Amino acid sequence: MKKLKKNIASSILRAINSAFAGADTPSEAEIVSMLEYPPDETMGDLAFPCFKLSRALRKAPPVIAAEVAKAFECDGVEKCEVAGGYLNFRISNSYYAALAPRIIAEGGEYGRSHVGDGKTVVLDYSAPNICKPFHIGHLASTVIGHSLKMIHAFSGYNCVGINHLGDWGTQFGKQILAYKLWGDKETVERGGVDELVRLYVKFHAEAENDDSLNTRAREEFTKLEHGDEENTALWRWFVKISLDECNRTYDKLGITFDSYAGESFYTDKMPEQVEKLKESGLLKVDNGASIVDLSEYNMPPCLILKSDGSTLYPTRDIAAAVYRDRTYHFDKCIYVTASQQCLHFAQWFKVVELMGYDFYDKLVHVPYGMVSIDGAKLATRTGNVILIRDLIDAAVEKVAAVIDEKNPDLENREQVAQDVGVGAIVFHYLLNSRIKDTNFIMDDALSFDGSTGPYAQYTYARTCSLIEKAGDIKNANVTVTEPSEAALMKTLSRFEEVVDAALRDYEPSTITRYIIDVCVAFNRFYQDCKILGAENDDVRASRVSLVKATNTVLANALPLICMKTPKKI
Ligand code: ARG
Repeated sequence: MKKLKKNIASSILRAINSAFAGADTPSEAEIVSMLEYPPDETMGDLAFPCFKLSRALRKAPPVIAAEVAKAFECDGVEKCEVAGGYLNFRISNSYYAALAPRIIAEGGEYGRSHVGDGKTVVLDYSAPNICKPFHIGHLASTVIGHSLKMIHAFSGYNCVGINHLGDWGTQFGKQILAYKLWGDKETVERGGVDELVRLYVKFHAEAENDDSLNTRAREEFTKLEHGDEENTALWRWFVKISLDECNRTYDKLGITFDSYAGESFYTDKMPEQVEKLKESGLLKVDNGASIVDLSEYNMPPCLILKSDGSTLYPTRDIAAAVYRDRTYHFDKCIYVTASQQCLHFAQWFKVVELMGYDFYDKLVHVPYGMVSIDGAKLATRTGNVILIRDLIDAAVEKVAAVIDEKNPDLENREQVAQDVGVGAIVFHYLLNSRIKDTNFIMDDALSFDGSTGPYAQYTYARTCSLIEKAGDIKNANVTVTEPSEAALMKTLSRFEEVVDAALRDYEPSTITRYIIDVCVAFNRFYQDCKILGAENDDVRASRVSLVKATNTVLANALPLICMKTPKKI
């Protein structure tokens, strides 16, 4: 459709030029961006609003529309009708028929673009905090971030995925002290992160009544910062326990990272930046702490050093950005976090700009809405969390039960149960615009009805089984005659544009919604048209080609939202 849109735009331009000689005309690219998909398909497949041309051409929109329609001619467009100030185009069935073999021939390439060729994008996502439960809040960053990575890779970018682990900060002083006071090796080994969290929660409960614990915790962290052997060993152990737990989940999601350089990695890289801030006169001392004043930019100050000289979250982010610029020479560095951190990113992005780093405008914060449970904020300390592990287990169990009931002889039963169970959750997360707050409801995440992951994967599996049953068909001559065939092909033709839009808006849900459109269009076609039992071999071969084209698009689209594509369910 991208190419057809271009052709239509150039035809419109030609028509304008012949009808309004010498007028100031928009560019072809501008016309492409003005083309719309009319909400009511009976009006046409594409529409061009003439309102914006009114001023330049000094004519009323309906007059412009009528004039352009008279001179309009374009391959692939069967009809061009005037409706008020709009031009409505009907795309010919022969265009759609020719598209199916093209999609099949392009296969894994269909929908790919090359806008990112030769460019590097760094994606900072997931980034759970060590010693804290890996809960459903971090799942959003994990799947949105990974999906953005896949979308960028599909668009030609060289991608570097970084898990900026929350493995440094004063909370580790608390964790170490809590362990020393109430923990023991065996229990932690057995209980893993759960036991670490129990100790951490206990620390906060005890510190409520005994402030000296906070002082002691700070001392433990200072010792850690200075390389104390015992504390370093404990810290390393805690990091390993947490990472092992996270890796089990990443494995199930099929997610890997190119780097696990967490916050601690930047310990020796911060002094250079603090020095630079001092030299440039940006650092001010305020109540003992060192800050960068951002009042000129309507933001509270960015905290760089606490009064005891210890570094903070923004300090580490600044050092990390400089390191990444030097290491990866990125064209974009994307950070996926909850929207609560918008101010944090706006602040330190500004600081980096003030420091004179020329990469400041390549930093992109991609926030997502708040995830809550029954309207309550997730909080480790109060225990209001759902662990990703438990969520995945519940989903996989539910899928396994359905398989046992409906298809007990399925090969690879366990793998399929996992792919579909995990897919249900991922799809649920990536269905709505990322910035929307979500109230997490377990039953919704595990639902298989309507617009869900299992529905999408099932549709894909259906295309696989039809293709298998159809056997070898050579040289199918594709014809599109039924409305449901045309509607399906129209949907498939949009894929490239959908990928572009998802990339432009950093919005995986654009892909998720599109996948639903494809499934709905395909299932309508499947209901309306006999495929394997078509009236003759030609029609059968033609329809199998539409199935193959659908199969190609789903095979390319599902991985963009971290979904697996089992061939049998
Ligand atoms: N660990 C942080 C959190 O859980 C997210 C880190 C995001 N990345 C970054 N470079 N700040 O909130």
